Amino acid sequence: MTDTDSLQSDLLARIAAADTPEALEAVRVAALGKAGAVTALLKTLGGLSPEERSVSGPRFNGLREAVSAALAARKAVLDAAALDAKLAAERQDMTLPVTPAPVGSIHPISQVMDELAEIFADLGFAVATGPEIEDDWHNFTALNIPEHHPARAMHDTFYVDGLDTEGRRRVLRTHTSPVQIRTMMAQQPPIRIIAPGRVYRSDSDATHTPMFHQIEGLVIDRTTTMAQLRWTLETFIKAFFEVDDVVLRFRPSYFPFTEPSVEVDVGYSSKTGRPAAPGEADKWLEVLGAGMVHPRVIAACGLDPQQWQGFAFGTGVDRLAMLKYGLTDLRAFFDGDLRWLKHHGFSAFDMPTISGGIGA
Ligand code: DAH
Repeated sequence: MTDTDSLQSDLLARIAAADTPEALEAVRVAALGKAGAVTALLKTLGGLSPEERSVSGPRFNGLREAVSAALAARKAVLDAAALDAKLAAERQDMTLPVTPAPVGSIHPISQVMDELAEIFADLGFAVATGPEIEDDWHNFTALNIPEHHPARAMHDTFYVDGLDTEGRRRVLRTHTSPVQIRTMMAQQPPIRIIAPGRVYRSDSDATHTPMFHQIEGLVIDRTTTMAQLRWTLETFIKAFFEVDDVVLRFRPSYFPFTEPSVEVDVGYSSKTGRPAAPGEADKWLEVLGAGMVHPRVIAACGLDPQQWQGFAFGTGVDRLAMLKYGLTDLRAFFDGDLRWLKHHGFSAFDMPTISGGIGA
């Protein structure tokens, strides 16, 4: 056997033994690379006599071709094996159930606020907002709650240190009623707004949290009446609780910013746990305060109470949520317990709409 033959059989054996693309590449470099054994042989051709070259040339070139062909064939085998392995490892089982992407949920308070915004939008009410750090003029004085009036203490107000730029005491708003004032001062009547939002009182026990949520309603026009207030509240309660009929009781009450003032009870069925029609209601549940806006409040906003009148109402969103969704502990709303939220929360994709149904 010549040297060329033994080199060829050695290289072909190494090619056959290479079981990874890297090992095969090492053999290729050792044979055909710049300093490879086959390359070195080919380089010697230049120094040979024409006779010798005519013998060695074809042999060396035959060697190169045989090695190149073996490398290519082995590479095809290794590539196919690598692809098979990849396909086997990365196979997807299309019959597996889909793992849902983690989706956040809507807190019941936000859900109820969205429901209320939707219901009142259908009645032509816009959503108005105001600051949570109020001043005592908007929170009290303009609402006909004068300095030293017991209602200011009744509200257990959180006062903020220092005065605002107008020299007014700053307070965390104790109710959403100051949004009435801000709206009347910012726009001309007719006005139809609701104002949902956070309110604060220094009060904390099983049925009170220092921060809670209210929704305010305000209608100002030339001929607004208490009958319209009653119809609006009935329509809202029916839509919110998704019942066909409901009975409301207006009890005379007192709020400084309304005259006359009422507290509104909803007829409730202890059987169904829901608001009920006149014959079926067997108990009363207080749900909101309301009344005709006091002329002094209208005047404080720079409007003429001889020309403009209206109604207002205010209610607790947390309580509405508890009543509608059967939530029993107010404090759970603020615990931030994800298990509670998963159980009672609402899908982010299930927005309340009048046509699609208000509730969950
Ligand atoms: N602001 C009152 C409160 O926090 C609730 C309220 C009562 C609002 C009567 C009103 C209303 O607009 O007319 O207790």
